[in-house]
Amino acid sequence: MKFSASLLASAFTFFVASVGAAPSTVWDPTITSPIMGTVWLVGTTVNVTWSTADQPSTVSNVGQIYLAKDQVQLMALSGTFDLAAANGFHTVTVPDVVPGDDYEVVLFGDSGNIGPSFVIAEQT
Ligand SMILES: *[C@@H]1O[C@H](CO)[C@@H](O)[C@H](O)[C@H]1NC(C)=O
Repeated sequence: MKFSASLLASAFTFFVASVGAAPSTVWDPTITSPIMGTVWLVGTTVNVTWSTADQPSTVSNVGQIYLAKDQVQLMALSGTFDLAAANGFHTVTVPDVVPGDDYEVVLFGDSGNIGPSFVIAEQT
């Protein structure tokens, strides 16, 4: 009894390990907005968008959006969300930060997935 239970347990562990090693893919989508020339106004609602052209059938990672300034991560702009189901966009509110032209968004997947610099400005 004990023997077969532990056999079952190791079979299960093997199954989980092989599923984990299967083609689950950390997906780093290409950010399509904000990009160079984009201006976000503090306090407004905007979309971060990305290309779904290279979306793998299995995405192993959740999405989360961070704001960076001059390549340094500042703050989360969103909680985690289902990256595979997000359909290429996530809506965020522009935080009340110092206006500047050296902001970037980081889209997880991966901390290296940083977009080009764009502008955050005050509302006039
Ligand atoms: C974000 O994109 C969605 C889908 O295209 C659209 O319905 C929504 O109005 C957009 N929101 C903003 C703030 O642009």
